Amino acid sequence: MYYSEELIEEVRSRNDIVDVISGYVRLQKKGSSYFGLCPFHNEKSPSFSVSRQKQMYYCFGCGAGGNVFTFLMEYENFSFVEAVKFLADRAGIELPEMEYSKEAKEKADLKSTILEMNKLAAKYFYVQLKSERGSQAYSYLKNRELSDETITAFGLGFSNKYSDDLYKYLREKGYSEDLIRQAGLINTDERQGVYDKFWNRVMFPIMDVNNRVIGFGGRVMGDGKPKYLNSPETVVFDKSRNLYGLNRARTSRKPYFLLCEGYMDVISLHQSGFTNAVASLGTALTAGHAALIKRYVQEVYLTYDSDEAGTRAALRAVPILREAGISAKVVRMDPYKDPDEFIKNLGAEEYEKRIHAARNGFMFSLEMLEKQYDMNSPEGKTDFFREVSRRLLEFEDELERNNYIEAVATAYRVSRESLEKMVAKMAVNVGMARPVARPKRAEGSEKKQKEDGILTSQKALLTWMIDDDRLFDQISQYISPGDFTESLYRTVAELLYEQRKQGALNPAKILNHFTEEEDHREAASLFNTRIKELRTKEEREQALQETILRVKSYSIEHQTMNLDPTDMRGLQHLMEEKRKLENLKNLNITIQ
Ligand code: CTP
Ligand code: MN
Repeated sequence: MYYSEELIEEVRSRNDIVDVISGYVRLQKKGSSYFGLCPFHNEKSPSFSVSRQKQMYYCFGCGAGGNVFTFLMEYENFSFVEAVKFLADRAGIELPEMEYSKEAKEKADLKSTILEMNKLAAKYFYVQLKSERGSQAYSYLKNRELSDETITAFGLGFSNKYSDDLYKYLREKGYSEDLIRQAGLINTDERQGVYDKFWNRVMFPIMDVNNRVIGFGGRVMGDGKPKYLNSPETVVFDKSRNLYGLNRARTSRKPYFLLCEGYMDVISLHQSGFTNAVASLGTALTAGHAALIKRYVQEVYLTYDSDEAGTRAALRAVPILREAGISAKVVRMDPYKDPDEFIKNLGAEEYEKRIHAARNGFMFSLEMLEKQYDMNSPEGKTDFFREVSRRLLEFEDELERNNYIEAVATAYRVSRESLEKMVAKMAVNVGMARPVARPKRAEGSEKKQKEDGILTSQKALLTWMIDDDRLFDQISQYISPGDFTESLYRTVAELLYEQRKQGALNPAKILNHFTEEEDHREAASLFNTRIKELRTKEEREQALQETILRVKSYSIEHQTMNLDPTDMRGLQHLMEEKRKLENLKNLNITIQ
């Protein structure tokens, strides 16, 4: 880390978390905490809480949580160092010049320089659009029925016909050719030398969730090819981790997103009041997109083009979303091609109706499947149902599978029993053990499930310890930092034990230790892992007891597995631990 621990702690402690967060979220005092609407997910009643005493925040709805640095990292997409700088500035603390390693400095600088350049370029394109030179582009957008308000809201622009205008402009502003190239704004070839990547196109700046311009899409005005040109991936532009329109959709406060294919679809939907529309950036939907979406909503309405390519893309997206725990529905737009055309022709109200009539993703996939079979012949129909049965097997959860069997039976007017039988037979045919599960995956996933379970127990235990000094004292009689098998958890435990030795626990301070974004998030989650549905004191005590036992036995199991058989002392130590574990079974923890 560039700054000393003391300095970081000073910055943290001089920025009261309630004051800082109040700048972003309206908070109301309730008891000893402050509550407000969570800025990290859509909700109607406040489940986001901030504790002045602990100097931590936590959302009971989505599980976001951490200290004042975490908040800024999440909200402003700051790096740890950026958050420290921002808060030092806020509190009037002077930070020493950082002694970066040369590499780190270059990387950090490169990112912010490219963001700066992109912002300048976006402004430049916008000014061009509004100038005389941009009149053709401006009428193009007007013809497509975009209002001035929409054009401004999405920062649309125009790259003019001179093929090195932007390059010259950015050079004047002092950026080197190399930097402009790294931003993806120019190309070079032997014949023309350096030239602007975008020229004579309508420009769509692509913003990340924090409104920073990370790249561009440029559309020809007319039928030229390629229709769209997009920025290449750069240090700030990762297509699989960003969605067009997310910066606006995240605050729409609707419980689902409308996922479409094109920039124009997003813009047109927003203009018609559907401010929850987003699109991937000219690429197919990835698991990265799904994970990003999951941070905001649990449900997605796919509103892809109605042509064959769009249908195929929707069919591919459904399982990707399902894997991420997002349920998908498919909106039909026939006879129109896409949401933009649909709304132009039939208007927002009709579109709203289509949203209400959206079909479940799986049922939609079956309708598409039907087209491949001759549903008028008995053979064709039987073959269709065989394929349906095979697909039904993909639902690993029995309850979910049964629900779908029922839905299919109803939709296709076949008896539920015979469909069930066919599914069961199919399971045998494709060599699946009962209850239907893919044997190969099942084994791995069982082990993984157990590991996940243990990690959750370790996390929950840390949350308990952090919550209350007295609980800490009781738990630490049985559990030591070494019992946390995950190294990051162990580090947090070590820091906690050290703090307690010196006096009271200071959880907000522990997070200062984790300066890499991934680690910081992971560490923050250790402070907020609560086992749900624990109402009474007895339930809590029992859960705590069980958790201690589980963590301890796993730790012993883990040590046993990793023990060097010639290590006599280690062996003795383990025997001792096992004996203690037996005693632990009668342990009696009391929660005040
Ligand atoms: N796309 C692309 N490159 C192309 C064509 C399309 O990157 N040559 C991406 C763009 O992100 C585009 C999306 O795929 O927004 C959907 O393509 P399409 O449906 O053809 O474009 P629309 O967004 O509908 O644009 P328009 O309405 O202007 O035709
Ligand atoms: Mn379109």
